[in-house]
Amino acid sequence: MLGSELLARVPAGIEALGTDLVAGPTVTLAGLDLADPKAVERAFEEHGPFEGVLHCAAYTAVDKAESEPEVARRVNVDASRVLAEACARAKAQLVAVSTDFVFDGASRVPYTESDTPHPLSVYGVTKLEGERAALDANPGRTAVVRTQWLYGPRGKHFPRTIVALAREKGSLRVVDDQVGAPTSTLELAPALWDVLALRGTGVFHAACEGACSWHGFTAAILEACGLRSVALAPCSSADFPRPARRPAYSVLDSSRLAALRGRPLAPWRAALAEYLRVEPL
Ligand SMILES: NC(=O)c1ccc[n+]([C@@H]2O[C@H](COP(=O)([O-])OP(=O)(O)OC[C@H]3O[C@@H](n4cnc5c(N)ncnc54)[C@H](OP(=O)(O)O)[C@@H]3O)[C@@H](O)[C@H]2O)c1
Repeated sequence: MLGSELLARVPAGIEALGTDLVAGPTVTLAGLDLADPKAVERAFEEHGPFEGVLHCAAYTAVDKAESEPEVARRVNVDASRVLAEACARAKAQLVAVSTDFVFDGASRVPYTESDTPHPLSVYGVTKLEGERAALDANPGRTAVVRTQWLYGPRGKHFPRTIVALAREKGSLRVVDDQVGAPTSTLELAPALWDVLALRGTGVFHAACEGACSWHGFTAAILEACGLRSVALAPCSSADFPRPARRPAYSVLDSSRLAALRGRPLAPWRAALAEYLRVEPL
């Protein structure tokens, strides 16, 4: 989802290479396993030199990760280390994307980059290990960018799923006890290109401004999609038990990123409206 949006928004004057099957004008390296050190080294030799790498490959099946931690670790930790080591050899900048799930959600004020992580799930644990592997293996040239609640023109995500369910069922119950900030890849992708161009290093938070619960997000989506007649009721996470625990509150304070690039990401409602203008659901 995020990688394809990055390739759709390559800044002028930059030549970019994607590592997945992405439509568009950019050359792609289909089938490259980023956890395979030899394959990555070969890709750097054959297609480099690279000035920078935007790393957004991940094992993102949060619930499934609970039952296959080694598979999740291979991508979320090993691939991050392998890419960072390759970047270190090439003296290239690395921007590695991470998640709000590194936090436990016990806070009631937005998390800053200096808050202590405490992940609740295998996904969160492996993403945190991946952050540390990337920072350690390519010191001084790595930015870890934590984001949350992503959606965008490509990929499977909450707004698309909830609109389909609303049309199918006519009524919805959605959890009201998890709070975060829905973040559009249309907003995040240019911010990641900025972090690369501005040589940001260390940890950054990058989410749309403001906060809501999944219930609140759903209400806004239904309203924007002309589905006001759908009955929407709040419920608690306990009503929908899932294998992985999620943070109850994971709003990210993104002011460090705003200071680097001179502006914050858009407020989440404005970003949702822009996304729905680009891709009506
Ligand atoms: N989605 C969210 O709500 C969210 C929230 C916070 C943070 N993030 C982070 O944001 C980043 C992008 O997320 P996303 O939602 O765009 O993820 P996504 O749609 O699941 O894409 C992840 C990509 O990684 C690729 N990949 C997995 N293992 C690989 C490997 N060994 N070698 C090469 N490629 C591999 C996958 O390829 P295949 O499809 O071929 O397996 C897939 O294209 C991730 O770092 C994620 O942790 C996402």
